Amino acid sequence: MSDESRPSPAQTAVAAVIPAAGRGVRLGPGAPKALRALNGTPMLIHAVRALAASRHVSLVIVVAPSDGAAEVKSLLDAHALPGGTPSGSWGSTDFLVVPGGDTRQESVRLGLDALPPEYGVVLVHDAARPLVPVDTVDTVIEAVRAGAPAVVPALPLADTVKEVEPAAEAGDPEPVVATPERARLRAVQTPQGFDRATLVRAHETVTDDVTDDASMVEQLGLTVVTVPGHEEAFKVTRPLDLVLAEAVLARRRLNDGF
Ligand code: CTP
Ligand code: MG
Repeated sequence: MSDESRPSPAQTAVAAVIPAAGRGVRLGPGAPKALRALNGTPMLIHAVRALAASRHVSLVIVVAPSDGAAEVKSLLDAHALPGGTPSGSWGSTDFLVVPGGDTRQESVRLGLDALPPEYGVVLVHDAARPLVPVDTVDTVIEAVRAGAPAVVPALPLADTVKEVEPAAEAGDPEPVVATPERARLRAVQTPQGFDRATLVRAHETVTDDVTDDASMVEQLGLTVVTVPGHEEAFKVTRPLDLVLAEAVLARRRLNDGF
């Protein structure tokens, strides 16, 4: 499809790519991280629900571990079907499953390759952020629809951050090189939202190793903007994060009127 015939971000449907192909090495031994349970439900299912909860999101593309696409597809069907919807959809949200790659960047690109032409806005959301509130998702979408080519949810930092000269051996003392002014720093989360053509171009152009998609758009020379993130959009990375995630779910159940 040519650029002229693409739907503009203001009107178009929104798709979400959920990279879920990582092993979760920092979480310790066990199943791939996205398939680990939080209160009995796989983290990935929480993440898909969180995105499908937005009325703007009409397609979710899950990027599964490369040897686990069939398993992930049946997992999604099993959790979607109680709502009475046909295979491959989740209420009014459709889903696709594609196998992932060796890096997060490659996994996201494989997800983008599966994106049908009618989607002009793409969110990229870590399966490892299962508890993102729908308001955060909608805030990101609104900013893209209002014309920003790339949008990231961000929060101020609690800790002071030091830049160091990394030691050769883990655990050895490391000389501090600089202390960036904390008030100017933000920790960024997902979903990150993009004008589709911009994100595709970033993935075609940028080959450096990156840890998020927005930094690839920055490398194209475009402006990335932040919107307020949410503390519940934290990434489950280490074992203590599982404790926090289950505590957040318990608090939600209490607030939902038990
Ligand atoms: N991811 C992916 N494909 C990869 C690596 C990561 O789809 N080859 C996904 C993860 O599944 C996760 C998200 O990218 O949802 C963020 O990555 P991270 O939190 O680093 O997860 P893992 O890479 O699985 O964890 P670790 O780095 O501890 O192994
Ligand atoms: Mg990783």
